[in-house]
Amino acid sequence: MDHAWFSESRFGMFVHWGLYSLAARHEWVKNREQMTDEHYQRYFDHFDPDLYDPAEWARLAKQAGMRYVVLTTKHHDGFCLWDSAQTDYKVTRTPWGKDLIAPYVEALRAEGLKVGFYHSLIDWHHPEFPVDSLHPQREDEEFKAAAKGRDISKYADYLHAQVRELLTDYGQIDYLFFDFSYAGRTGYWGGKGADDWRSPELMDMVRELQPGIIVNDRLGIPGDFVTPEQYQPAAPMTIDGQEVPWEACQTLNGSWGYDRDNLDYKTPDLLVRMLIDSVAKGGNLLLNVGPDGRGQIDPRARQSLADIGDWMRLNSRSIYGAGPSGFTAPPDCRYTQRGNRLYLHVFGWPFRHLHLPGLGGRVKYAQFLHDASEIRTRVIDPSQTAQNTAIGALTPDTLTLDLPVQRPDVVVPVIELFLND
Ligand code: GLC
Repeated sequence: MDHAWFSESRFGMFVHWGLYSLAARHEWVKNREQMTDEHYQRYFDHFDPDLYDPAEWARLAKQAGMRYVVLTTKHHDGFCLWDSAQTDYKVTRTPWGKDLIAPYVEALRAEGLKVGFYHSLIDWHHPEFPVDSLHPQREDEEFKAAAKGRDISKYADYLHAQVRELLTDYGQIDYLFFDFSYAGRTGYWGGKGADDWRSPELMDMVRELQPGIIVNDRLGIPGDFVTPEQYQPAAPMTIDGQEVPWEACQTLNGSWGYDRDNLDYKTPDLLVRMLIDSVAKGGNLLLNVGPDGRGQIDPRARQSLADIGDWMRLNSRSIYGAGPSGFTAPPDCRYTQRGNRLYLHVFGWPFRHLHLPGLGGRVKYAQFLHDASEIRTRVIDPSQTAQNTAIGALTPDTLTLDLPVQRPDVVVPVIELFLND
């Protein structure tokens, strides 16, 4: 299948939104506080997101330079954001009373964004989902005794039927993120994986319903891309020595769901560097926002998106359609490359010069990307470097850039190098 749009886009928005947004203390709140269904019901009974405006979400994503959006149709708590025929544990039974998915899909399409769904394999509400080490009632002996006869195959039927609804009722869906498999992982008893979800059969159904869709790798069987979570890989990711498409999913503050009192926000320059770092290693960045209980993306997240957008407005040429370069970047820098344009991202601003090994005689022209101002370059005669200890030993294939001492006022300055054909 042609998934070229995915790697060309490089940057997407993750949206975690559901009942936990009302608790406002992490999307795993039901697990962490070992809440019963009865207790958790308060969020269902008060779910009334009067400020839900997916057109606004789409605008914010687009202005940040994101090209696709991925929304939690159901998270681990089992609550469904659409009018599923399989359950009453869904948005249409809350005070809000209306499907949230159709307006979301329409809003993305109107902005020309690709449409993504996240869907949890784990379900802490379904009556046939066995109690395991991740379940909120994992320490409730009475509950566990009553749950003894639970049959995961019945849950798998439900899972398949719901995925079928999602991939049938909303037109073309471009992207699907299943979450997650933990069979056989140390530290988890009762962990679940491909056998429990009947993953090959589920994957076949997904591809039959949506032939163009790109699917992640958390079904316990290989998918179309790899999903490092809350870390940046050290190098391009490979499977059996082959480079594979990957996407780092990252948070603004460590939490996916709205987390009111968590102030651990990443700075705009860290976020921009994470995006660049992903592209430099052949990956995407899926950056998360957690709308609040009224459906709004809160001011802190909006500010982060706006700051990234300011950088992207001037520098996205180094991101879209770009990937790793065969050249080795100098310390504290990252290269990305698209055809014969090489982009040097300067994370740590040097004093006056940057020396680029391997680029002597290879570059026609160099400029800052943000303002198209020329950067003068030269290849220093190596026979002179012995006397010139400030420059040190340079090889004849090193290109030297003459830079201003002051870093330009850009979060991460980018230098665009036009390579000889
Ligand atoms: C994890 C978490 C979850 C989050 C997801 C995003 O697997 O369980 O809360 O949705 O990662 O990748």
